[in-house]
Amino acid sequence: MNITYFGHACFLLETSKAKILFDPFISPNELAKEIDVEAIECDYVLLSHGHEDHIADAESILKRTHATLVSNFEIVSWYEGKGIKNTHPMNIGGAWKFDFGWAKYVYASHSSVMPDGTYGGNPGGWMLEVDNKVIYYAGDTGLNTEMRLLGERYAIDWAILPIGDNFTMGPVDATKASDFLNCPDIIGMHFDTFGYIQIDHESVKDLFAKTRKNLTLMEIGATKEL
Ligand code: NI
Ligand code: MN
Repeated sequence: MNITYFGHACFLLETSKAKILFDPFISPNELAKEIDVEAIECDYVLLSHGHEDHIADAESILKRTHATLVSNFEIVSWYEGKGIKNTHPMNIGGAWKFDFGWAKYVYASHSSVMPDGTYGGNPGGWMLEVDNKVIYYAGDTGLNTEMRLLGERYAIDWAILPIGDNFTMGPVDATKASDFLNCPDIIGMHFDTFGYIQIDHESVKDLFAKTRKNLTLMEIGATKEL
């Protein structure tokens, strides 16, 4: 299975059964200006919460690809009001067997509101079991002890964690999250996009190496095999 990074918190996960896009924020992202949003194909769009820096391109991609939108009930309802018909609403703690595999919408300690001020429900992240691997996409979140429970219950192969600090946990807390999750293989997200979340890559990589964790910071547009 392959994962491609489109900047900020946006990834495309290509499994043997489906293409799953997370939190598309590409066209407003100066760092992702080489990415052609119109060329992205996907079967599912998973939205962690309603903030603009996670949903900016969701409506256009959903309308062009007819992908299924999966998110919390409030976010799904907001998109249904915009004419999006292929939807699957969930809420915290709930799991579902999709044709690509199993997905659970899990707790995130953050906030959520739609760009027009509509209530965006509770923010979340995703635990996915796809192609015999368990992948945790944290969404925007601070460090929290729910992660310890996730680490106890699931044999997580890859954890995609925010590391930019200020709006989410920063690098030090992300190493602690890695301990809680019992997963040393981390892919970083939610860094460098704007001033508040710029990080020094070398010192952050050193920090992870010192705590015996493998941090991958993907180049925007790059693809990695998981
Ligand atoms: Ni957010
Ligand atoms: Mn964000």
